[in-house]
Amino acid sequence: MILIVSVVMLLLEAGRSSSSSASGLENQIFQYIDLHQNEFIKILKEWVAVESDSVQPRLTQEVTRMMEIAAARLQALGATVELAQLGTSQLPDGQSLLLPPLILAELGKDPQKPTVCFYGHLDVQPAKKEDGWETDPYTLTESDGNLYGRGASDNKGPVLAWINAVETFKALKLDMPVNFKFIIEGLEEVGSPGLEKLIKDKNQLFFSDVDYIVISDNLWLSNRKPALTYGTRGSICFFVEVQGGERDLHSGTFGGIIHEPITDLIALLDSLVDISGRILIPGIYDDVSILTEEEKKLYESVEFDVEGHKNISGVKKFLYDNKEEILMNMWRYPSLSIHGIEGAFHEPGIKTVIPIRVIGKFSIRLVPHMNISIVEHQVKQYLEDIFSKRSSPNKLMVSVPLSAVPWLADINNTLYTAAKGAIKTVFGQDPDMIRDGSTIPIARMFQNITKKSVMMFPIGDADAGEHSQNEKISRSNYFQGTKLFATFFLEIAKLHEQLQEASTMKTTN
Ligand SMILES: *[C@@H]1O[C@H](CO)[C@@H](O)[C@H](O)[C@H]1NC(C)=O
Ligand SMILES: *[C@@H]1O[C@H](CO)[C@@H](O)[C@H](O)[C@H]1NC(C)=O
Ligand SMILES: *[C@@H]1O[C@H](CO)[C@@H](O)[C@H](O)[C@H]1NC(C)=O
Ligand SMILES: *[C@@H]1O[C@H](CO)[C@@H](O)[C@H](O)[C@H]1NC(C)=O
Ligand SMILES: [Zn+2]
Repeated sequence: MILIVSVVMLLLEAGRSSSSSASGLENQIFQYIDLHQNEFIKILKEWVAVESDSVQPRLTQEVTRMMEIAAARLQALGATVELAQLGTSQLPDGQSLLLPPLILAELGKDPQKPTVCFYGHLDVQPAKKEDGWETDPYTLTESDGNLYGRGASDNKGPVLAWINAVETFKALKLDMPVNFKFIIEGLEEVGSPGLEKLIKDKNQLFFSDVDYIVISDNLWLSNRKPALTYGTRGSICFFVEVQGGERDLHSGTFGGIIHEPITDLIALLDSLVDISGRILIPGIYDDVSILTEEEKKLYESVEFDVEGHKNISGVKKFLYDNKEEILMNMWRYPSLSIHGIEGAFHEPGIKTVIPIRVIGKFSIRLVPHMNISIVEHQVKQYLEDIFSKRSSPNKLMVSVPLSAVPWLADINNTLYTAAKGAIKTVFGQDPDMIRDGSTIPIARMFQNITKKSVMMFPIGDADAGEHSQNEKISRSNYFQGTKLFATFFLEIAKLHEQLQEASTMKTTN
């Protein structure tokens, strides 16, 4: 009882103190984490030692073993764990393979507390020492303050940081500030087969009492400044097929007397973007959300090394010079990229051929609030108009083999406010509010199906080397990340309570 009272008092203190300095409770937690660094590293070492590579079917057993190890760890914390089966997959040789299970776990069911669901994955990309690693990829090795090993950052380190944070509350016999749910998969690196269906199947049961979903599977934009990710772009891919006759022709025999399909196609592709990168399809920008002053300010404060990024790209000049324009064009404006032409001669040397059927491939990165079916219609209409002006007898066919919607979170909501507060406490600074220009379906998938608020909450710095040689998480990121998650639990509990109180007052008024 005395303990509970003191915790309540500490919580009250946490509520009063400015969010930039740690409360007594937080300091107690931080101290515990600092004192147990070796244990937290030891378990990361054990997890990294499991070659849970989901890309190579022969290692499926190892992925399954990894899931079982994690399940046992969660059970030891008192969680109820289900290893959900995802069925089998067909191998190229016709054999079927049992897919590794997915972990669904829950800890705590107090209706007074918010329920936070954490998503992570424990499978990894392939890695061999011969690929150019300086150390064995499956032996976690510390050097210069970094912990090197496959999965250290993507995604075993962040999953463990979360679990370590929960464990800290338990070890200190503190009241858990929130109820926890975990959804941890072993097939992320191969596109998460079965995940969407599982989320749909479990939506009524597992997700019904979830209030917030947190994903920690991406990186900061810089090496020093923490970040929160609040958006990803979608994409829509197009095939533009131009067909003349039935077979390729000789340019000596037919060159000069026919409408060549590839000439039509290049004219079509050339009509898509101008020299400044602007997409020329009429109406394409109509639904793009308007840039507000508030949003504009977000880009100004983001720490982003333009020269470094240019260096990585290897090009001499970007379309834009200033940081804000570059960030906005990577994240919040659509872009169009031409990827290639199927059916065109591309081997070294010369072949005097007239390809008779060519398929141009391009895609548009979509942003809020572009609508896939409207974009599809606009693109088709435009290409048909351009094509019809050429009076070509060839046949044009435009199709959309793949599309995915963008994702955007409200950075003013409880999740983001709590995470910002936690970052301020642990790092003493405000986070970079960032988006990702690529398409990461997971956040959108959770949001669309469960209708809960979703946040991407990275703890690793930009040069973690995910998917690459010498992947690492810095020692400091691993422990600061653990402290960050623990602080976040307290923050979200506090905000959630305030929210409940406010809504109770509203209903009683
Ligand atoms: C760009 O790369 C070169 C060579 O790799 C390096 O010398 C230079 O410092 C880099 N510049 C920046 C701004 O990162
Ligand atoms: C996209 O536009 C179509 C056609 O106007 C409309 O039917 C559909 O509801 C829109 N979709 C979304 C997600 O707004
Ligand atoms: C977000 O919150 C800030 C500060 O409370 C407020 O000024 C701003 O209008 C809010 N923005 C949105 C989009 O709700
Ligand atoms: C959203 O979820 C609904 C219902 O599960 C599904 O039919 C739809 O295709 C999903 N849309 C996107 C854009 O993911
Ligand atoms: Zn990952």
